[in-house]
Amino acid sequence: MRKKLIVANWKMYKTPEQAAHFVSAFLPLVQDHNRDETVLCPPFVCLPAVVAAVHGSHIRVGAQNMYWEKEGAYTGEISAHMLRAVGCSHVILGHSERRQYFGETDDAVNRKLKSALASGLKPIVCVGEVLAEREAGLTEQIIRQQCSVCFLDISGAEAAPMVVAYEPVWAIGTGKTATPEMAEDAHRIIRAEAAKAFGDERAQALRILYGGSVKPENANALMSKTEIDGALVGGASLDPKSFAAIVMRGS
Ligand code: PGA
Repeated sequence: MRKKLIVANWKMYKTPEQAAHFVSAFLPLVQDHNRDETVLCPPFVCLPAVVAAVHGSHIRVGAQNMYWEKEGAYTGEISAHMLRAVGCSHVILGHSERRQYFGETDDAVNRKLKSALASGLKPIVCVGEVLAEREAGLTEQIIRQQCSVCFLDISGAEAAPMVVAYEPVWAIGTGKTATPEMAEDAHRIIRAEAAKAFGDERAQALRILYGGSVKPENANALMSKTEIDGALVGGASLDPKSFAAIVMRGS
């Protein structure tokens, strides 16, 4: 059984003070919960405040991006090593907004993935098709291509801490959700690519999250599917009550 993982992606929302307020409202709501793993991914500047606020709880903290070099003349960038130093355990890589607005390619995601793994971070690698690709019947091809490039030259042993998130771009922030069956189909494709890259055993252990308009109302239906190992939640993770309802779903 793969343990489910619920990840909050706050995107460019919340100051350190607002982030600390979130955690103090959120923690009591999920206090007795240890069925799943829960990770909060705030903006970089909030990381120390969130790490301090979750101290002593089962909540973990991740960043939303990083650069692959350890240090150097890369104005505006943050390394895996720096994220570890402030107490991050996870990092989201290749989110569709990074790809769409900041030109991030599968090759860049592959470099970041190698660097994150080498530094001991647990990467959450995002893949997914845009609407035009789905409508053109290209979903499978796109997902396979993203996975094969992102996973290049990484061994099964190295990939062990990695998580993948399937995020159909047309479902992100739109209120449209993939049906659990659509998500399951995509997850099977990702798992097949993982098997090619890392071997069957590692692919079976790989956790694949669904992301795209996950809300308290649909979280249970999605995550009761055996192929869906958790959720990457944007909008609904900004409010402590709605994110807690997703974490506590069905309990
Ligand atoms: P959403 O975002 O839940 O607001 O659709 C998901 C994501 O972008 O990770």
